[in-house]
Amino acid sequence: MLVDLDPQGNASTGLGIKRAGIRKSTYDVIFDDASVAETVQPTKVPGLFVLPSSIHLSGAEIELVGIENREYRLQKALRVPLPYDYVIIDCPPSLSLLTLNALVASDAVVVPLQCEFFALEGLSHLAKTIERVNKSFNPRLEIHGIALTMFDRRNNLSDQVADDVRNYFGDKVYKTIIPRNVRLSEAPSYGLPAIVYDMKCPGAKAYISLASEILKREKRILNAQTTAQTTEAAQVA
Ligand SMILES: Nc1ncnc2c1ncn2[C@@H]1O[C@H](COP(=O)(O)OP(=O)(O)OP(=O)(O)O)[C@@H](O)[C@H]1O
Ligand SMILES: [Mg+2]
Repeated sequence: MLVDLDPQGNASTGLGIKRAGIRKSTYDVIFDDASVAETVQPTKVPGLFVLPSSIHLSGAEIELVGIENREYRLQKALRVPLPYDYVIIDCPPSLSLLTLNALVASDAVVVPLQCEFFALEGLSHLAKTIERVNKSFNPRLEIHGIALTMFDRRNNLSDQVADDVRNYFGDKVYKTIIPRNVRLSEAPSYGLPAIVYDMKCPGAKAYISLASEILKREKRILNAQTTAQTTEAAQVA
């Protein structure tokens, strides 16, 4: 399930959800105790569901300030048995109370990073923020991966940014790099995910490879956690 927490709602419209067809949204889940079950919508992709965003979310910042447990609203809504393997939250592009809600509700952060000049600066700032959220609100939270995107082979800067990020963040950076690809930018206007719009374009192929890399890493991390817990339990016994 994809949770669209960005007031711009591009994740929802990009998956073919029409604004007019949204009765309840993440806004209602956060503010009005609407359940995930009554808000979630199916998409054209089997097995992919979306909790749609709405324009009401743009006022959420101000509304959240005065509310009780304002950092934990989304966590509370998602802490129920859900029939999904993974819940992915698409965040607004800045650190806001909405983003903080996402960080508090999550186990892991995956950062898409454009290969551009200010990328590294933004990333180290984000890493510090995540560390702080980890200490104050959510001890499970950590960066599981950084995905390099908008990579332009003809541009030396892209290479340089990719190298810098790898030097700094090492294995956290996924091997797959998403190239700059026009087909990827066309897909949302058809309300389709890029891999459905054009499965064979270089961008879609890269995303398929990234998805399998993410899955492998998540499974390895989960296994390591389970082993650690079992060992701990055995020691206690
Ligand atoms: N690899 C790519 N190649 C070409 N265009 C891309 C690529 N990735 C994204 N785009 C285009 O860039 C725009 C923004 O993409 P996207 O919504 O993924 O970015 P974002 O960082 O989440 O934006 P925002 O910060 O506004 O939420 C879209 O029009 C998308 O089609
Ligand atoms: Mg976005």
